[in-house]
Parts: sequence; C-alpha cells; structure tokens
Amino acid sequence: MAVIPVAIAGAPYDVRVGTGLLADFVGQCRGLLRKRRVPIITDANVYAAWGAVIDKALHDGAHEAVWRILPPGEATKSWDQLAATLDWLLGEEVERGDHVIALGGGVIGDLTGFAAAIMKRGCHFIQVPTSLLAQVDSSVGGKTAINTTAGKNLVGAFHQPSLVLADLAVLDTLPRRELLAGYAEVIKYGLIDDADFFAWCDRNAAAMLSGDPSLREYAVSHSVAAKARIVAEDERETTGRRALLNLGHTFGHALEAQTGFSDRLLHGEAVSIGMVLATKYSARLGLMPTADADQVARHLRETGMIADLAALGLNCDGSALVAHMLHDKKMDAGTLPFILLRGIGAAFLARDVVLDDVAAFLDGELAA
Ligand code: GLY
Repeated sequence: MAVIPVAIAGAPYDVRVGTGLLADFVGQCRGLLRKRRVPIITDANVYAAWGAVIDKALHDGAHEAVWRILPPGEATKSWDQLAATLDWLLGEEVERGDHVIALGGGVIGDLTGFAAAIMKRGCHFIQVPTSLLAQVDSSVGGKTAINTTAGKNLVGAFHQPSLVLADLAVLDTLPRRELLAGYAEVIKYGLIDDADFFAWCDRNAAAMLSGDPSLREYAVSHSVAAKARIVAEDERETTGRRALLNLGHTFGHALEAQTGFSDRLLHGEAVSIGMVLATKYSARLGLMPTADADQVARHLRETGMIADLAALGLNCDGSALVAHMLHDKKMDAGTLPFILLRGIGAAFLARDVVLDDVAAFLDGELAA
C-alpha cells in the first residue's frame, strides 16, 4: 500500500492507495470514526457493488453503517439533493467533530464534500473514491460543488477531506469506458510537468488498464502524489499552479456543454479530446513541436481513448464551442486563461489566447 501525504497548510491528510481497503474499512479510518453509527452517502450502483463489504467491515469493527443512497448520475449534484442530504445529516444528529463518508465517484464526492462544508458551518468527511477518475483527481484537493441551471460546479466550496481511501479493488468492477475516461486524468499529470511519467504511461498503460495490480498501484499513487504536490502549493487556485490541472478542461468543457453534459460524452472523454486539442493548438502557435502533439494523440488512440474532435460528429462550428467557453467559471475579467504546452511535461497558463483564432482552429478540427 502507498500512503501519500497532502500537505495543505492547516488541513493536512493522507491518501491511502491499495487493494482491500474497503474490507478493512474501520482499521483504515485509523480512529476517525468516533461513534457507533457511521453516516455514509453513496449511489445505488456503488451500494449494490460495495454496500455489503462496508456493512460487514463496520459491523466487525463494532460500528453500524447508516446509508443515504442517491440516484447515480450527474443530476444528483443538485440543490434538491444537497438540501435533502443536509436534512438527513441533521436528522442523524451529525456533529462538527464527526466524519461523514463519501463512497462513490466524483458526483458523490462533490455533493457530500459540499454538504460537509456547510453542515453546521463545516463537519469532517472521508473520501472513498470508487472510480479511477475520482481516485486520481476529484477526491484529492478539496474542491466540492453542485451544478445549477447556470452551469456545472458553479456553487461550491474548498473543503478538504480528513482522509482519502482509494481501494484499487473497485477498479476491477468498473466498466471499461469509465476506466478509460479516468485514465485521461492520469496521463494529464505526465503532460503537465512529468515527461518521465508520460513515457511510463506510454509503455505501461495497456497492461495497467487490463488489470495488472502493481502497475495500477503505481499509476494511481503517482497521479495522487502529483495532485497532492500541486494542491499543496496552491490550494485555492490563486497563483496559477493549480490551474495547470485544468489542462484539456477548457476545450473539454465546451464539448460537454455542446453534448448536453450527457452520457454521449463522459467528462474524461471530453478531457481526452481537450488535451489533444490543447497540444495541437500549442503546436499551431509554434509553442510545441508538432511531433510531441502527434505523440499525445497517438498514445491516447492506442490506449483506446477517444482523441479526435471530428469523431464526435458535432453539428456546430468553432464559434459555438468558443461561446460555451465564455460561460466557463475560469473567465477572469473578460479573458479566458488556457493551459497550453511547450512540450510533453511543460504545461503553462496562457492569458493572451485570441478566441477568434481558437474558433478558426476548431473549425479546422471539426472538419478534419
Ligand atoms: N480537478 C482540478 C482540480 O482539482 O483543481
């Protein structure tokens, strides 16, 4: 097992990565469960797969799970579910010193974390991520949010968990499409500032995704360590360092908006295409060698990821995609920061991107 410290000033915690953590849930929580009843928020799919394992682990450790089981899917990150979850936590008489458990993917982690952030002005929570994407990205770093009619993740808070338990066993039951979508956030760390990790992924991704346990542990723990390093440097995205984690996300967000934030395009799939677009656009600006951009697209295609914008068959032009970007929460006084690259492992924040040029570039990619 790997234990990765997240050194946030005033709120440090560990991410524990290994196989069988859910079956040993009480031991892994390391004394944080101070009452017999343990409130757990999850979704129906995760409960069906892992509810009995957690129930047994808590029972064996002289605790009892009290479950709030929500519908799976992005629609659960809503005002209504947040309000009902808070009422439920209040009904369970959760106190500020108690820990609420978020057992699920990014939707459950974001909703539970936000509920914990505002419950009695803040109670503790433990992230138990059950998707690859949540293990390597959303469960670490304390971003919590719900969606509103104005857009995704526009209402939320920074609220760090007390502990993250990433059990690699859950990846065995994850649908292949979701596993691949999560892999987009793994390769992202190589592209941001770690060319050696990109090269490792290029050599090992196929075996890792097929289930090799030691490769999985390395991929997840290395990704978590990269994220931990970045969020410890810039918890609240004020210096620009944490913004690097948005690589591929501005393009990706536009694609998700154009496809209605639906199952037609998963978040990780949008990030995969978005990273290819960010590398190609960087090459078009002469910032990055075209060969590097080609290598990124080739790697993603060979891994089975969706990499090409034209393959989506969108019925729109580049200006329509740029219009979606203008609703991005990263808009800053009329400019939209983009994460571009000078090469693999050399991402940077660009504040001078010309949106008309981005639209022309996207016109070409849509027609490619
Ligand atoms: N997923 C981007 C971040 O946590 O900052």
